[in-house]
Amino acid sequence: MFSRLQPVATDPILGLMAAYKEDPNPLKVDLGVGVYKDEAGHTAVLECVKKAEKLRLDLEDSKTYIGMAGDLSFNAHIEKLAFGPHKVLLEGRTTTAHTPGGTGALRVAAEFIKKANPDATIWVTSPTWANHISMFQAAGLKVKEYAYYDYDTKGLKEDAMFADLATVPAGDVVLVHACCHNPSGMDLNFAQWQKFTALAKERGFTPLVDMAYQGFGLGLDEDTQGLRYLANEVEELILCTSCSKNFGLYRERIGAVSIVVDSNKMLETARTNLLAVVRSIYSMPPAHGAIIVSHILDSAELTALWHQELAVMRNRINDYRQLIIDKLQAEGVQQDFSFITKQHGMFSFLGINKEQIERLRKEFSIYMVGSSRVSIAGLNHSNIDYFAKAVATVLK
Ligand code: LMR
Repeated sequence: MFSRLQPVATDPILGLMAAYKEDPNPLKVDLGVGVYKDEAGHTAVLECVKKAEKLRLDLEDSKTYIGMAGDLSFNAHIEKLAFGPHKVLLEGRTTTAHTPGGTGALRVAAEFIKKANPDATIWVTSPTWANHISMFQAAGLKVKEYAYYDYDTKGLKEDAMFADLATVPAGDVVLVHACCHNPSGMDLNFAQWQKFTALAKERGFTPLVDMAYQGFGLGLDEDTQGLRYLANEVEELILCTSCSKNFGLYRERIGAVSIVVDSNKMLETARTNLLAVVRSIYSMPPAHGAIIVSHILDSAELTALWHQELAVMRNRINDYRQLIIDKLQAEGVQQDFSFITKQHGMFSFLGINKEQIERLRKEFSIYMVGSSRVSIAGLNHSNIDYFAKAVATVLK
C-alpha cells in the first residue's frame, strides 16, 4: 500500500530551517522561520518561563488526564489577555480550549467550521502564512484568497480587499490576522477594521481571527484593538491564539481556540462540538506549556517580568526595522525601503526577486523564504553589515 505514496515537497519554511542548520558557512544568517533571536543569535528561554517551570516542579502533584478543554485556568487567562474586560466574556458568550500550539488551534477551528457548515469556504489574505491553506484544505474546507498585500506599493490593496470581501456569501469564514500579518507585516488600521466589521455584518460571514503574535506589534492591548472592536459588533467569531512567540514557548506547543457565540444559550452547543473535535483528533492537549503560562499570569511579579521581556523582543525587532533601512542606504542602495518601518511584527517582505534571493543564499548563506519574507529578529550587530552589503551586491 505504501508504494502508492509519492514524495511530498518539504514545507517551504521548515525546509529552510533544516537547510540553514546544515550550512557550514560561519557567516550564515537565518532570516527564515519566525522565531525570535536575541543579539547573540540565540532563542533563549524567557526568565519568567524559567521561574514558572521551577514553580511547576514544586507545585504539581498529579499527572492525571487534563480534560479535552485543557487547562481551565490557562483558558481564562488567555481569554482575558485577548479580550480584556469585554462584553463577550461578561455575557458568558465565549468558550475556549487550549490546543497543541496555534497551528493546533487553527486545525481544531477548521474541523469545527466543517461541523457547523460542511460547505463553508474559508477566505484567506493573499498572501498568507503558507500553512494556512494546506491545513484548511487538509480539513476538507474550500479555500479562496482575498486581495491583501500590494507588492508594488508595499502597502494594503485596500479597495480590492474590500471589493473581494463584499462578495463573500453568508456561511463562509474569513480569516483575518489580528496583528503582525504573516508574511507581510502589513496590518489593518482601525478604520480598516471598522470597514471589515461592517462587511462581516452586512454579508453575514464569520470572522476567524488568527492572533499568533500578540505583543509583537504595538503592545499587548494595542494589538487586540481590531479584534476587540470586531467582537463588540459581530454575533459570532472564532479566535486562534498562540503562546509560541510572545512567551517563547515554541516547542511546548501551546495555543488556544476560542469560540464566541451570539448568546449564552448557544454556548453549551459550541463547547460540546468543540470538545468533540478535540476528542476525535488528539483527545486532550499536553499540559506543560499551559501550566507555565498560568503560573506567569497568576503572579503579578512574573507577569511584570514577562511584560518587560516581551517589550525587549518587540523593541529589538523595531530597532532593526530602522537599522535595515539605514544600513542599506549606507551601502548606497537607491531603492526605497522605508515601508519596513510601517510594518509590524516579525516579518516584512524585502521585495527582491527570486534570483536575488537565490544569490543571497548561494553566495552569502543568507536564508529567507522564497517570497522574500525576512524574519527580522535573525539580524544582530554582528551580521547586519554583512547582510546589508550582500543585499546591496545582489541589487546592483
Ligand atoms: C513562521 O511563519 O515562520 C512560523 O509561524 C513558524 C511556522 O511554523 O511556519
